[in-house]
Amino acid sequence: MRSLSREHHLQVEQLIAPLFLADSDSAKNPIASLPGQFQLGRKELLQEIEESMELGIRHFVLFPAVEETLKDKRASYSHSPENFYLHTIRSVKERFPEATVMSDVAMDPYSSDGHDGLVEDGIIVNDPSLDILCKMAIAQAEAGVDILGPSDMMDGRVGALRDALDAEGHTEVSIMSYTAKYASAFYGPFRDALDSAPKAGDKKSYQMDPANVTEALREARLDEAEGADFLMVKPALAYLDIIHLLARECQLPIAAYNVSGEYAMIKAAAQKGWLDENACMVESLMGMRRAGADIILTYWARNYATLVKEGYVYH
Ligand code: PBG
Repeated sequence: MRSLSREHHLQVEQLIAPLFLADSDSAKNPIASLPGQFQLGRKELLQEIEESMELGIRHFVLFPAVEETLKDKRASYSHSPENFYLHTIRSVKERFPEATVMSDVAMDPYSSDGHDGLVEDGIIVNDPSLDILCKMAIAQAEAGVDILGPSDMMDGRVGALRDALDAEGHTEVSIMSYTAKYASAFYGPFRDALDSAPKAGDKKSYQMDPANVTEALREARLDEAEGADFLMVKPALAYLDIIHLLARECQLPIAAYNVSGEYAMIKAAAQKGWLDENACMVESLMGMRRAGADIILTYWARNYATLVKEGYVYH
């Protein structure tokens, strides 16, 4: 009877699984602060995608772990023809044309400063960063990406990316904007995974102040006008009000990023025997759904899909 009166459901096809890539033909490097997640070599990545697709997961967002020696101030490796990330995207799309591949558009994995934009004299310079982000985006579109994920938070980047894509004929590539991305301490494990923490300063001059609500709406209006196809709120759990606000006020699909720290804290408590991981995971994901998220990016995608297959979730 409870299932007859249940108001919200979460389908596996609404999930996007984040995966970390190592520059290697074969690797499975554990990430200490993200138990159960790995930097995957090409072979393991293809296998992970195949197994996930068998469970009904169809969407993936890929993040590259880049060697320190390949990083520079201008993130030039991000659009180099040598970039292993671009080669990997190509092989994923060749092998699984029906999988949705989303990229990360930001300088931090490639930047010797560890910032999402270009640093000059200790300042993140917005407009010169846009040129670099556009080059990166075009290279990703050429490699076959379906959805660009600008996570950099530079002003005006959605419009700049849309214009650059269209000018190069990539009219079918869509953009999931990190619309309301807060300057959050919950990204810690992700930065460990990619060794991409800022070398100096913090990200507060471009990521949002956790105290702000109206600014999220302003960012959403700009992204809509600039041509975004999806709007994202990140992190999710401390920002359910923002998810709810955008879902109510905007007409585009709303995504929530269930970030690394949100995953890590439940994992850690579960490892101590203090929380039931599966129950807390489902409850958290349902909270995001109830707040209004149409799409959830979560490191639990595969676990959730496995539970659904086993019939756990709806009993
Ligand atoms: C980088 C980026 C970050 C995340 C996604 N893209 C980290 C950051 O902004 O420092 C965080 C994801 C997570 O914590 O799971 N632009």
